[in-house]
Amino acid sequence: MAKTKSVFICRECGAESPKWVGKCFACGEWNSFAEEVKFTGKTVNKSAGLLVSRVESKPMLLSEISTDKIERIDTRSVEFNRVLGGGIVPGSVVLIGGEPGIGKSTLMLQFALRVGSLKTLYVSGEESEEQIKLRATRISGKGLSCYIYCETRLEKILEQCVAQTPDLIVVDSIQTIYSDTFESAPGSVTQVRECATALLRFAKENGKPVFLIGHINKEGHLAGPKVLEHIVDTVLHFEGDGHHSYRMLRALKNRFGPGNEIALFDMQNSGLREITNPSEILLSQGDEPYSGTAVGAAMEGLRPLFIEVQSLVSPTSYGVLQRSSSGYDSKRLNMIIAVLEKRGGHKLAGKDIFVNIAGGLKVNDPAMDLPVMAGMISSVYDRPLPSKSCFCGEISLTGEIRAVQKIDQRLAEAEKLGFTKFFLSKYNKITTQKNSKISPVYVTTVDELLAKLMH
Ligand code: TYD
Ligand code: MG
Repeated sequence: MAKTKSVFICRECGAESPKWVGKCFACGEWNSFAEEVKFTGKTVNKSAGLLVSRVESKPMLLSEISTDKIERIDTRSVEFNRVLGGGIVPGSVVLIGGEPGIGKSTLMLQFALRVGSLKTLYVSGEESEEQIKLRATRISGKGLSCYIYCETRLEKILEQCVAQTPDLIVVDSIQTIYSDTFESAPGSVTQVRECATALLRFAKENGKPVFLIGHINKEGHLAGPKVLEHIVDTVLHFEGDGHHSYRMLRALKNRFGPGNEIALFDMQNSGLREITNPSEILLSQGDEPYSGTAVGAAMEGLRPLFIEVQSLVSPTSYGVLQRSSSGYDSKRLNMIIAVLEKRGGHKLAGKDIFVNIAGGLKVNDPAMDLPVMAGMISSVYDRPLPSKSCFCGEISLTGEIRAVQKIDQRLAEAEKLGFTKFFLSKYNKITTQKNSKISPVYVTTVDELLAKLMH
């Protein structure tokens, strides 16, 4: 008879230990071990290894391998195509993570319904057929070639993948799928890892793309072992702020395209609408300049993105100092405040500071340091920044403004959007500056920035 045994498995790397340990001996992560029940003796059902028949393969000369056959599948969405690096590669496995309610199921259903004449199989372990139908009606998708299958058993899903021969498979979500071979609960490290591996094998052997939706944990990482991120070809993160309708799909890893590419969507009553011209939407339309507002010339992936940063510096009314930032890294904000105090000679100790990136988006580009600082300076003096100006530059601990990448692209976009002043580091070399209507303003240090903005 099969006996049960408890083991502890690291959520990050999948290492096993008979006892709970605080720090993983394999990957060094703290507090990552979770208990799982393991059956020893005979496995319940041998069928999991099924359907994943081994296709014979032999070593080939690199020069003999042809890529002509690889034709990317067009998703019928310019934005989605771009994050994937130009469409879906057949046989690839894409993992989409995001917070609950952000719109992962909506995104994938919409995409499954609109991908054209391709036959899609949408496997849902979270919702019933009726719920999915209601959602499909909402996003007005007819779904003439989209099959909905509500099932959580891996063996059955693989069976249908073979029987229905879909061109594309979506699994919502990988944490709800389980295999009979493993006795641990759905969502456990073993189940997630093994189910994803079986689906990956299916994808590779049959040349069918598979999309996996994944939950994220409270730290914002994809729930399940880190190995999951290693085995899939592409990891996309769907993010946004619950109070805004803008959603950002970000490629964290992509074996078939540039990493860190983003796509923007707007969640409306009838599903997600893609935003092909983000800068015009993210910038406020009013001509009246306000103090504390600065425009940053960020670069997300290969595309320049002009975003408004709002800063508010005001005296603390209560004993507890508030430093809050939304959409911008709070550690970086603290660093910028410290630099402004030390190098710019401003006393900010008794001040509350709030920084907000418009639209509820998150930006990672270090070039946003300069607009954040410019916004704070403008708020401290309560004076608006020069009209039609934008900023980009990284700030170092020494108070120096450092050069950023792809300056020509940012400048070209700034000119297109009608800006006339472009604040940047003196160390940035502009190569395309002929007959331009925009004038660059070079700054080397924080003092110089202060002087140029406020005197
Ligand atoms: P959902 O796709 O269920 O999120 P997830 O799968 O990531 O948990 O999205 C749910 C949210 O999206 C819900 O708050 C309602 C909203 N929504 C719209 O605003 N418009 C729509 O057309 C749809 C289908 C959902
Ligand atoms: Mg969902």
